[in-house]
Amino acid sequence: MKDLMSKIISLCKRRGFIFQSSEIYGGVEALWDYGPLGSLLKNNIKNEWIKRFVQNRNDVVLIDATVLMHPTTWKASGHIENFTDPLVECKECHSRFRADHMADSRFVGQGKAKIKDQCPQCGGKEFTPPRQFNLMFKTFLGPVEDETSLTYLRPETAQSMFTNFKLVQESMRFKLPFGMAQVGRCFRNEITTGNFTFRTREFDIAEIEYFVKPGEDEKWFDFWVDEWEKFFLDLGFRKENLRRYEHPKQALSHYSKRTIDIEYKFPFGWSELAGVANRTDFDLSQHSKFSGQDLNYYDEDLKKSYIPYVIEPTLGIERLLLALLIDAYQEVKGGRTKTTKATKEIEILLKLDKKLAPIKVAVLPLVRNKPELVKKAKEVYQLLKPHFVCQYDELGSIGRRYRRQDEIATVFCLTCDFQTLEDDTLTVRYRDTMKQERVKIKDLPTHIKKLMCGVYPKF
Ligand code: GAP
Repeated sequence: MKDLMSKIISLCKRRGFIFQSSEIYGGVEALWDYGPLGSLLKNNIKNEWIKRFVQNRNDVVLIDATVLMHPTTWKASGHIENFTDPLVECKECHSRFRADHMADSRFVGQGKAKIKDQCPQCGGKEFTPPRQFNLMFKTFLGPVEDETSLTYLRPETAQSMFTNFKLVQESMRFKLPFGMAQVGRCFRNEITTGNFTFRTREFDIAEIEYFVKPGEDEKWFDFWVDEWEKFFLDLGFRKENLRRYEHPKQALSHYSKRTIDIEYKFPFGWSELAGVANRTDFDLSQHSKFSGQDLNYYDEDLKKSYIPYVIEPTLGIERLLLALLIDAYQEVKGGRTKTTKATKEIEILLKLDKKLAPIKVAVLPLVRNKPELVKKAKEVYQLLKPHFVCQYDELGSIGRRYRRQDEIATVFCLTCDFQTLEDDTLTVRYRDTMKQERVKIKDLPTHIKKLMCGVYPKF
């Protein structure tokens, strides 16, 4: 299974999905750049998320707030005090680790850790006692670098949805329940990283803060756990690779009354993909106290004011992207395309949902040494470009080109052949079934749009 991770990492680099940040300088740990295909895929994931939870709902609106916020935000939220991980240092080589990730972490949290473990770097057995390390990146607002200008890069998008609670509720004239959604950059100075893009220091979170009447929070919590899980299933995840994990009471975050994670079966083991927390009235009460502003909601039906409770479904976009790649990755031994003679080679098929595939259509002239075919194929490419993300490819045998497109999840391959020059039709090949049909060039935009919406499910 570890092998699968190296295959995914290699595919990501080879085909332009994900590169190590600043690679020419040797790279930086836990920072990754999204290349031409990776950034398209990432955008598709975000758009699907927004479509589902904002566009398709009446009660959730999108906001886009700043990464840097008033420093008091982080005092009120509890991040300065609590957003920490226990850190231990190897006395031999001074490598640092998260104490709660060590094999023997029984004493962590009781302030008297005695880690009986080996340093993965040097094999050393002596560690410093754990100390709490704050994961927020510090920075300064303005030119003077002192305590008064100190602030932090946000470690979650949630807080700006709490600080904007009144402004959104009043400007949208919302009644409870309603929610705010946000997808944006977050930063965490993680102590241990690794497993490719699973745990990084800079990433996008997509989360919703859903404000409800106290007493109705448990019902809405269950609702959002189901909705979150359904979202993943509709993105094409295999059911057997997802499961729920309920956090034990003693391990809950400082703000949470209940948390359930949706876990994915990564090649390195079951791990958190996303979560849903019942944040109670903790955040709004804290911001009300620290800002001096009244963040009560006036309930016209009950004729009284109260601080709403908040249910928070959250997910990391890059972590979701990684899980999607793993879930979609297939190897077909001996080849699946009829055009290549059965070889011993392994063909890779990336079976991403068609909504998510970075390239929807590849346009291919059958051969590249026939100028009329190349001209026709380029015309088709120009015709389709305004409608779909397309790629033009004329290099190598047609079989090899199909395989290159299968490897990056391209949904349709369109081939211009000699018949095209006679009757203005071409073949449309569908990635998953490899079935082909002939379609008139002028009908292509509408035809492919219908295929994308699943109007012809049998094709
Ligand atoms: N507002 C709640 C919150 O931030 P979280 O569980 O700390 O909750 C939300 O983070 C999601 O962000 C996680 O479920 C995970 O998918 C993703 N995530 C968290 N830390 C990450 C990291 N270091 N690298 C990549 N993704 C991360």
